[in-house]
Amino acid sequence: MIDIADLATAFQARFGMRPRVFCAPGRVNLIGEHTDYNDGFVLPMAIDRGTAAAVSPRQDAKLRVWSLNLDETLERDLGNLGSGRRGSWSDYVEGIAAALEDRGIRPAGADIAIKSDVSIGGGLSSSAAFEMALGTALAAVSGNTIDRLSLALAGQTAEHNHVGIQSGIMDQFISVHALEGHALLLDCRSLEARPVPLRLGDYEVVVCDSRVRHTLASSEYNQRRQDCRAGVELLGNVLPGVRALRDVTLQQLENHRSLLPETVYRRCRHVITENSRTLAAAAALEGGDAATMGRLMSDSHRSLRDDYEVSCDEIDLLVRSAQQQPGVLGARMTGGGFGGCTVNLVLHRNFDSFRENVSREYADAFRIEPEIFTVRPSAGAREVLF
Ligand code: GLA
Repeated sequence: MIDIADLATAFQARFGMRPRVFCAPGRVNLIGEHTDYNDGFVLPMAIDRGTAAAVSPRQDAKLRVWSLNLDETLERDLGNLGSGRRGSWSDYVEGIAAALEDRGIRPAGADIAIKSDVSIGGGLSSSAAFEMALGTALAAVSGNTIDRLSLALAGQTAEHNHVGIQSGIMDQFISVHALEGHALLLDCRSLEARPVPLRLGDYEVVVCDSRVRHTLASSEYNQRRQDCRAGVELLGNVLPGVRALRDVTLQQLENHRSLLPETVYRRCRHVITENSRTLAAAAALEGGDAATMGRLMSDSHRSLRDDYEVSCDEIDLLVRSAQQQPGVLGARMTGGGFGGCTVNLVLHRNFDSFRENVSREYADAFRIEPEIFTVRPSAGAREVLF
């Protein structure tokens, strides 16, 4: 947890004003991977780690943002923000300010200090947490209110235009809409969300951070989107009314398999089966059936590894090792893939041995200490009073 009083003190020491503070959580996706940009279903929960933004207004039209994690400061004129795509955190700052402006929220000059305790680029949506904390702070200091959905969409626009990743809406959506104690079943077509209480009995949600991030993550992500689009186009020729893979059943896919290149077929099969698993997982959680939830998570991993091909050796080992530990109901990669984190359902009393055994096996194989911790389902972006 970020120490908000510490952040406010650091802000005041540097900028001479008492700030307001806004925070937004990272997320772990329980199931429903690479389905959001296919108009499908996802089941993420916000975690008790995130980003906090301390802010106070300035008299001029300058944006000064200090990242405490990087100890870097960035200054921009609001009239001349820059067009991003530098591969640096400035892309997110410029992107959010521009996307808010597009939505009629003109950011005013501000001093901002940002601190995060979600590891950067680690698959727990550090970027969405950053965008949503910064976006709420910018909107508030400009005297504007912005509804949660518009803020989430502004974050997605920033990713598309300034960062260069054609991401879906899941990460930003959960970062602003999350409810404590719940996951959200989000329909990414209608953008309607159903809160799903996390009824896991004696099990808890455990994250294993592989602490690796492969450089092909963003190019492969955009490539997967294209594969799905190709599938929709080819299937749409024979299945009128198909707008997205959401509209295709497994039976239809099998019937028309010969129309698709093998890779495209497997990408489609992952998305279609993952949508079914996600709906079944929400029902299992609602019914307090943690065992079924765990089994669906492990099935999801297999599909992401073999059909969607977004896993990697490090993540596969973390999943395999987890599945062999006592008291584990399920394990899978979470997020975009190519490194990052796994999510696991672990019996509370087995947590210590789980952490010890998985860490040892992983460190033996890759000479990297993973970070293994439990996460609690937390609330979405908000102002923090201190
Ligand atoms: C990243 C993207 C999300 C989603 C996941 C994969 O986290 O930002 O929109 O597509 O990958 O499920």
